[in-house]
Amino acid sequence: MITLSIIKADTGGFVGHSAVHPRLMAEARREIERAKSSGLLIDGHVESCGDDISLIMTHAYGQEAGLIHSFAWDTFQATTHLAKELGLYGAGQDLLSDAFSGNLRGMGPGYAELEFEERPSEPVLCFLADKTEPGAWNLPLYKMFADPSNTAGLVIDEKMHAGFAFEVYDLYEDRRIVFDCPAELYDMLMYIGAPARYVIHSVRSKTLGMTAAATSTQRLSLIAGKYVGKDDPVMIVRCQSGLPAVGEALEPFSFAYSVAGCMRGSHHAPFMPVATGQAHPSRFDGPPRVVALGFQIKDGRLIGPRDMFDDPAFDGARRQATEVMDYLRRHGPFEPHRLPLEDLEYTTMTSLTARLAHRWTPITTEVATPVGSRTE
Ligand code: F6R
Ligand code: MG
Ligand code: MG
Repeated sequence: MITLSIIKADTGGFVGHSAVHPRLMAEARREIERAKSSGLLIDGHVESCGDDISLIMTHAYGQEAGLIHSFAWDTFQATTHLAKELGLYGAGQDLLSDAFSGNLRGMGPGYAELEFEERPSEPVLCFLADKTEPGAWNLPLYKMFADPSNTAGLVIDEKMHAGFAFEVYDLYEDRRIVFDCPAELYDMLMYIGAPARYVIHSVRSKTLGMTAAATSTQRLSLIAGKYVGKDDPVMIVRCQSGLPAVGEALEPFSFAYSVAGCMRGSHHAPFMPVATGQAHPSRFDGPPRVVALGFQIKDGRLIGPRDMFDDPAFDGARRQATEVMDYLRRHGPFEPHRLPLEDLEYTTMTSLTARLAHRWTPITTEVATPVGSRTE
């Protein structure tokens, strides 16, 4: 068995919240090399999306392993130290605790992990996003694993025909449920159509009995009890041979669907699939970006990556994202561009409510008639 872990954190932005400084990337890469030579990791790769650093690692320690999580924590401490030295923006913003205690659950960094028996050929996609939330993966996971219009294999591949089991987390109540699809698809859509609260955590093949996808589901805003930045999510999707083909796993991103995030984590904006070189949200801190890194895993080694959205076939989605961004921006501070009050990441409403409390009066049935419009 090997474990593929993506552990990510925003430890300081360059410039503002738009990207990671090259020196932080170099520091993280040095740490990964050290961990490889010490034998902790089988392999590792460092990538960024927006202002988040992702450590993509293979190892033999399983999911939620103390050794791996503490290595990531220490690496993010090191990049935070550097971020402070360079005066980068929001240095250490995702490290919510002063001390590491066992694993990263509730500590700020996000992670998606998958432990599996490596197949003779193991194609895997690692999706990294910035300026959005974990529920952003609900729509593409539904399309990849449950929508025959997206994934032809659900109909014509015998190994996929029985469908997939989706594990869904309720982030508000800290509970989970498993939906058996396609039988329970409509039940599931009722929940995952509300991605701020219900998030697909993993997907399992019913025929092959293997987990095919895993997402990061930590909500920083809820963990911290106050706004500390969007918990920009990551996702692992294993592909081919009874799982969605690479092209089926990428296909949902040919549509620049709307996600929550963008400016101040408080706006709906289109999700733009980009090559790694374009993964730097600039306009209105957006549009939110997604990159896809393809690897073949061999004896735990990460062969790759291939920059999967570096393909003109996704130009249409990028154009669409730009158009949708123009359209939504024209709403200014109005919904549906701005998120509904309960999903806003900034809390002006609390102080505003207190300040204006005494100014609100009951709406009476007697409505004063404006002078001048009286008839008698
Ligand atoms: C969104 C995000 C940014 C910031 C915005 C304001 O997830 O990180 O859009 O919310 O740039 O940042 P502050 O409040 O730090 O000035
Ligand atoms: Mg940031
Ligand atoms: Mg970010």
